[in-house]
This record gives sequence, C-alpha cells and structure tokens, in this order.
Amino acid sequence: MKNVNILAIESSCDETSMAIIRNGCEVVSLTILTQMDTHAQFGGVVPEIASRMHTENITMVLDETLKKSGLTKDEIDAVAVTYAPGLLGSLLVGLECAKAIAFTWNKPLIKVNHTIGHIYANNLVKKMQFPLLALIVSGGHTDMVIMKDDYKFEILGSTLDDSIGEVYDKVARVLGLKYPGGPNVEKMALNGSCTYNLPKPVNDNTYNFSFSGLKSAVINLVHNEEQRNNQIRKEDLACSFQTIAVDELTRKVELALKNTGIKNMIVAGGVSANKYLRNQIQELCNKYNVDLTVPNLVYCTDNAAMIGAAAYPLYLKKEFSKLDINASSQSQLH
Ligand code: KG4
Ligand code: ZN
Repeated sequence: MKNVNILAIESSCDETSMAIIRNGCEVVSLTILTQMDTHAQFGGVVPEIASRMHTENITMVLDETLKKSGLTKDEIDAVAVTYAPGLLGSLLVGLECAKAIAFTWNKPLIKVNHTIGHIYANNLVKKMQFPLLALIVSGGHTDMVIMKDDYKFEILGSTLDDSIGEVYDKVARVLGLKYPGGPNVEKMALNGSCTYNLPKPVNDNTYNFSFSGLKSAVINLVHNEEQRNNQIRKEDLACSFQTIAVDELTRKVELALKNTGIKNMIVAGGVSANKYLRNQIQELCNKYNVDLTVPNLVYCTDNAAMIGAAAYPLYLKKEFSKLDINASSQSQLH
C-alpha cells in the first residue's frame, strides 16, 4: 500500500507545532515552538499574546517541518489541523494556515479534535488494540472512556467539577510555582513526604471524579498558615496533594478494569507525563494483566504529531472538511 504522509498543525494553546506523520504512526518530522517562557511571566497563558505569537511563528514552523522531513509538497497527501477545543484566537491561526495550504497545494483538509489527538498519541508507540479503557487526564478533561474501535467513544465517567490538570495548576500557583504548574508540582513532590492530612475525594463507586474539594483544601491550608505566619512545608504539601489526587484516579481505573474486564488500556493528555501516575497505573495493569500504553513524554503535552496520528483514520474514511469550517472551544469527543 502507498505511504500516506499527513502534514499536521496544532495551535490550540501556547505551542505552535507542525508534524509530518506517515501512515498514522511514524513521525517523519516534528517541530514544537513553545511560548511557555513568555506566558510564565504572567502566571498563565494570555490568549491575545498567544494568538499573536502563533501568527508570527507559524510560517517559520512550516518551513522548518518541511525542511527536516526532506519531502516536497507533492509527497504530502493531506493537511490536518486542530479545530477544537482550545483558545479561539489561537485555534484560528492554525486553522486558517491549514486552509491556505490545503487550497494552494490542492490537498484534502482534515479537522481533528485536540483531545482525540491526545488519545491517538498512543498510536505513535504502538497501534491501539480495541476494546480499550482510556484515562484522559488533561487541562480540559478528566474522563474514563471505552473505545471499541477507532473514533468510537463511550464515556464511562468524567469529572464533576475541575479537571486534574487545572487542579495541578492551581496548587502550583498557591505553592508559588511557575506556569506550567503540573510538572513543577511533580518535581517538588519528589522531595517531600505525605505528612499533610488532606481530604480524600468523595468515596463513591461511580466512575466520576471530583477534585474541587481537594483543591480548596490545599488553597485554604496555605492561606490559613500564611495568616498565622506559619511556615508551609511545600514539598510535603505537594507530595500529600499528588498522592491523594493520583490515588483517586488509580482507584477509579481499578473499578473500571474490574467491572469491564477490559485488557487494554491507554493514558492520554498532559498529566499523562506525570511519572507517579504512570507508575501507579502500570502497577495496577500488572495486577490485572492489562496491556498498558502511555505516550512517550514528548507526545504527552501539546504537539502536532498526535494530530497527524488522529487524522489518519479520518483520511482512510475520506472524512474531509470544507474550507469554510470554523474553530470551536467545545470539548466533546467527536
Ligand atoms: O493535555 P493538556 O495539553 O491540556 C489540554 O489539552 O486540555 O495538558 C496540560 C495540563 C496542564 O494542566 C499541566 O499542568 C499538566 O497538563 N501537566 C502535568 C504534567 N505535565 C503537564 N500535570 C502533572 N504532572 C506533569 N508532569
Ligand atoms: Zn493538550
């Protein structure tokens, strides 16, 4: 069968990224230009600055990605782009760029959902085997999903309030850590012990999650101690928080594995970069004889390689988009 090379574009938040992905699984070239240092000065992503920086950088990222691939435009079969969810201004820069390339090079355009992109980052490790249980842990999602086939999503449970990524970022902020919070909380927790007594999330047996109580407990504890001029043992607090949060994710995954008997599992989204989470889920999968795949670290956070991987099944089904599609901030999986 002829090779399929997809040029993929991702600009939903603060990374301008392009990749060329062959047959949905091989990374021919990848460029990720992060704006992290700029936004860190403001404590989080400033949408207006993000879209301006995407505009400034996107043609450079395209040139670099093509150059590294050694391919010409004639060898590209389709253009894929993240159209949702994300910051509208940022999404639009990538989307309009993708439309311009698709139009001038006369290639089909494929729209890809960013969260589904995170799931398909696992195809860059090995082809996902169905049925599988997906744990999606990102800035926008905390879901357990059953996939019976490509693009067939059955939501088992979701967060009732904050996503796990949001909670990591809020905890980082009260601990005085720089944006992006998650990786910094993880680093800090490595040097601490679980000495703080934080409340566990609701101990129910549904597949839903709730992290807002834990988040508020950490924030209140820090504020109370500050008001009393007491020293906070930040490393211990980071460790106590992370242990409870990840143990809750693991507990619900165990429930799902036990009840469904599913033997394949993947983890997706930015928080899948967390080593404590990866280790805990791996131990669980060993216990239940489940085959676990997690993306390589570089494909856990935002990148265009995962968008190219997610576009491939759509390419095979010829699910192409018209050039008048719009960006959207909605976050449903489809
Ligand atoms: O998946 P992602 O790009 O967000 C969405 O697409 O919605 O992930 C970003 C989130 C941020 O909240 C970030 O703090 C978190 O992933 N994150 C981590 C780690 N690396 C990124 N959280 C915990 N530990 C990490 N190592
Ligand atoms: Zn993301």
